[in-house]
Amino acid sequence: MKIAISGKGGVGKTTLAGVMARILAHRGRKVLAIDADPDSNLASAIGLPKEALAKLSPIASMTSMIEERTGAKKGNFGSMFKLNPKVDDIPDEMGVSYQGVKLLLLGSIPQGGGGCFCPENVLLKNLVRYLLVQREEALIIDMEAGLEHLGRGSTGYVDALIIVVEPGQRAINTAKQIKKLGEDLNIKKIMIVGNKVNSEEDRRLIEERLSEFPFLGHMSFNPKILQADREGESPYDMDEKIKEEVKAILAELEKRI
Ligand SMILES: Nc1ncnc2c1ncn2[C@@H]1O[C@H](COP(=O)(O)OP(=O)(O)OP(=O)(O)O)[C@@H](O)[C@H]1O
Ligand SMILES: [Mg+2]
Repeated sequence: MKIAISGKGGVGKTTLAGVMARILAHRGRKVLAIDADPDSNLASAIGLPKEALAKLSPIASMTSMIEERTGAKKGNFGSMFKLNPKVDDIPDEMGVSYQGVKLLLLGSIPQGGGGCFCPENVLLKNLVRYLLVQREEALIIDMEAGLEHLGRGSTGYVDALIIVVEPGQRAINTAKQIKKLGEDLNIKKIMIVGNKVNSEEDRRLIEERLSEFPFLGHMSFNPKILQADREGESPYDMDEKIKEEVKAILAELEKRI
């Protein structure tokens, strides 16, 4: 199972990614959780303790590793570098594990954006492709709205792109924009999860305005999730309801991929 999670800022992508990763790991699956949001916080949604956090650094900032593997200086446009740097040891060497979930932090796409042809980007794209194509683990990628880390060559291996939506027109509009990006990348299965749903009416609003997408389910508005965030804990460890809701979402997802 290889899934990418996207959506407007603050809708609950990281919450869903963190809880989903913990549920799959608890079932005995090997799980690789990839934080592809430059403003990363997946570690705390997984529940990584502070000591483990200290060991984690973003791949994109590992200047000397990138230089060594690509043979080029960071940010040095126009110079020659390897297009197929070694990446297969990165998850095990640079990821940090907790409760059966291995977390990797990708870090910021360099200036120039996802299309920028520079060593750090080439390394990141190669890494994401390797993770999608060759790793056996369940893969959960927490992304920003832009899908910047996905390259055309690898998106055929994404089983599903989940777009998280809260009940509001802005999140719905962003979902439609992400759908276009996903389709441009040739991702076949694009599905919706509702979050911060307070009522049947909220849920219906999301389902109706995005009726062109399969709807996997929703997570209710839940003060325990906010509390978990305030305390830097995983909602997985703080609340049963969110677990049950994400299990139902996973069951629906598994039927469709
Ligand atoms: N169902 C919910 N009920 C209440 N609060 C929630 C819920 N889901 C998420 N939150 C809170 O909303 C905030 C944003 O959630 P989260 O970080 O998961 O979103 P995100 O989409 O990953 O955000 P970003 O775009 O900043 O990465 C957090 O404070 C989180 O605790
Ligand atoms: Mg996030």
